[in-house]
Amino acid sequence: MKILALILAAGKGTRMKSSKPKVLFESAGKPMIDYVINAAGTCGADAVNIVIGSGAEEVKTHVGRRAQFSLQQNQRGTADAVLAAADAIKQHGGHVLILCGDMPLVRAETLVGFIEAAKVHPVSFISVCVKNPFGYGRVVRGGGGSVIRIVEEKDACEQEKKINEINTGIYFCESSVLLDRLSRVGSDNAQNEFYLTDIVKEGAFAYKAKDESEFLGVNNRVQLAESAKVLWKRRAFKFMEQGVSVLDPDTFYADEETEIESDTEIYPNVYLHGKNVIKTGSVIMSGCRITDSLIDENCEIKDNCYITESKVGAGSSVGPMAQLRPGTVLEGENKIGNFVETKKAVLGLGSKASHLTYLGDAEIGRDVNIGCGTITCNYDGISKYKTVIEDGVFVGSDVQLVAPVKIGRGALLAAGSTITKDVPEDSLAMTRAEMKVKEGWVSRWKNAKNKGK
Ligand code: UD1
Ligand code: CA
Repeated sequence: MKILALILAAGKGTRMKSSKPKVLFESAGKPMIDYVINAAGTCGADAVNIVIGSGAEEVKTHVGRRAQFSLQQNQRGTADAVLAAADAIKQHGGHVLILCGDMPLVRAETLVGFIEAAKVHPVSFISVCVKNPFGYGRVVRGGGGSVIRIVEEKDACEQEKKINEINTGIYFCESSVLLDRLSRVGSDNAQNEFYLTDIVKEGAFAYKAKDESEFLGVNNRVQLAESAKVLWKRRAFKFMEQGVSVLDPDTFYADEETEIESDTEIYPNVYLHGKNVIKTGSVIMSGCRITDSLIDENCEIKDNCYITESKVGAGSSVGPMAQLRPGTVLEGENKIGNFVETKKAVLGLGSKASHLTYLGDAEIGRDVNIGCGTITCNYDGISKYKTVIEDGVFVGSDVQLVAPVKIGRGALLAAGSTITKDVPEDSLAMTRAEMKVKEGWVSRWKNAKNKGK
């Protein structure tokens, strides 16, 4: 069976109150149209055509080669939108599966079931019974239960508004029948639009779907948030089935490209953005936002860490409140404590920076201890320079390393030092002014002041 998926996406999306085309708004980390294109591809369509209109160029640029496009010059209704693709439909022949670009929740499995049931009818659509039918087209059925017509909210009488079986906006039709019926659709209705729903007046099979949450049409930002909630939750459940403990599925946010292995634990309010891999045995605590990063086995990411394009090696502990910026590589068994920021920094096996530290453009060996308050001074206002710290170095508290600088194996940098020159291995480096103690000085000073009054 030849199937052309036709995605309607030319509407103005007036209710979003935005200059951005509606179908490009992200729901759960991805533009809505992407979900629809993916569902069309997975359910067996052999080509995808998108009807574009308002914001046409933007939509086209975003979708690229994943689909072909038909342009609807003026948005005169959903029937007019399908007609804008008449040439593509004729050329393709076979069947047309019509989808809307503002329905990100439809599952490919549902479409497969629909197509299977619909293929023996010339015109079919998916209907579903909903709790609140407001805003949707209602399915009006006759005495024998057959579909008589679909009536839009704005055209419905009080009696019809009570019908809770609605039109989802998904259709499956024989191409020739569809085009023939469209030629007879007029615009005599409350909105003076050409309604695609009018094609069912000549007879149609309504496939009743079960799960109303799949057919939310996103018309405004409230519905956008509702759709995202459903998508995030679906992902939480998927991971839970795969052995991930999601402590609060209501506040779990993982983008589609993120992978989480089994025997991991995700605390409430975690955002896993982009393409992450979280390996087995790891725990991500509350308030973390992790983007395009690898968290290897048995790591503990404590509360409120911000990790981007980084690799956290097996057995490491990060946070609370640490920031790993792009290019951070923790090779394993590392400890990054609170208020530590790293950027383009490699830390060898077992090295630690436990508190209040900035490590930027740094190459740090194994078993290095970075004391509290250490700063790599990597920037002179014009260029960036590198700090190299070899294996086993002990950096005391409050040390500044003015790059470029290299500290040899096993050296010791005394607390409070400003290191401006390379330090050979096994050496002590210390830059401290001599400490003076003046006994009894405070009393003498206070007395002198009081006399002056
Ligand atoms: C439409 C249906 C309604 C159904 C609902 C499901 C009609 C007349 N009504 O209503 O029965 O219950 O979807 O969500 O079909 N579009 C174009 N060009 C146009 C107009 C619309 O491409 O000229 C596109 C929009 O971008 C959108 C889709 O068609 O993706 C649906 O349009 P929309 O205005 O959202 O229709 P609804 O009022 O929601
Ligand atoms: Ca809609």
